[in-house]
Amino acid sequence: MGTEEEGKNMQWKSEFETGIAEIDRQHRTIVQLVSDFETAVNARANWNSLHPMVHRAKEYAKFHFAVEESLMQIYDYPSMTAHRSEHRFVLERVADLEGGVLRKDTIVDLVPLFRTWLLSHFMDSDRHFIEFVHRRTARSGNTAVANVLPQVLIADADAENRDLLKIVLQANSFRVTLAADGMEALAAARSDPPNIIVSDVPMPNMDGFALCRAWMLDAGLKRIPFIFYCGHHVRPDEEQFARTLGAARYLTKPLQAELFLRELRAVLPAAGRISSAA
Ligand SMILES: [Fe+2]
Ligand SMILES: [Fe+2]
Repeated sequence: MGTEEEGKNMQWKSEFETGIAEIDRQHRTIVQLVSDFETAVNARANWNSLHPMVHRAKEYAKFHFAVEESLMQIYDYPSMTAHRSEHRFVLERVADLEGGVLRKDTIVDLVPLFRTWLLSHFMDSDRHFIEFVHRRTARSGNTAVANVLPQVLIADADAENRDLLKIVLQANSFRVTLAADGMEALAAARSDPPNIIVSDVPMPNMDGFALCRAWMLDAGLKRIPFIFYCGHHVRPDEEQFARTLGAARYLTKPLQAELFLRELRAVLPAAGRISSAA
């Protein structure tokens, strides 16, 4: 029976389910990528067809790990360092495989190793982490599991800019709220505080600088990281001014999505301290 099980491709099992739809969706994709890779290896596919599969799996794993690590930051997960090093470990092995550091003729031996890593990571490390998130959200009264993903409030007068940023953020497992000016942003944040705000400067009614000033004077909002994301070249004095207002970052449009997300995630830990203080 054991050999029959070993001969099968990796398949999704109900015990992998975490109760967080977005994480489950990503885990299902990973299982599918591994399964496709196993099929190709078993069919003795050549390296030219395996290589793009390895690359895709590496890129998807990077994305998924970044999503999990954002959640860990937000919820102040105490075992984050250990969990992150498991992510790093497997990413390095996949990168070695992609870069040809690992011998191609050992791929057949590597497949079960990746599968074992994944099973133990899903069933042990990811389970611990997701159970922690569930406990934290239940304690704060936020029982809607869809609400565990970090929320970003975007304040920008330009609808196209807002939508573009929304697409990038939603594709990277952030929830998004939109505001067309500072007044709208302030009202939205007061009724449903985000984990982070990203604001342009020129806006009608209340511009970004006035919004930041009001934000820092609001006891319920001042600890939520404020990022300026502006459409013109940043003068050093403007950046300095933004920082004196209490902004965490002053970024210039357009920023490559990956760089923008890196900056956003870099200031997320502060959001974790907000929820633990709440
Ligand atoms: Fe993980
Ligand atoms: Fe995971």
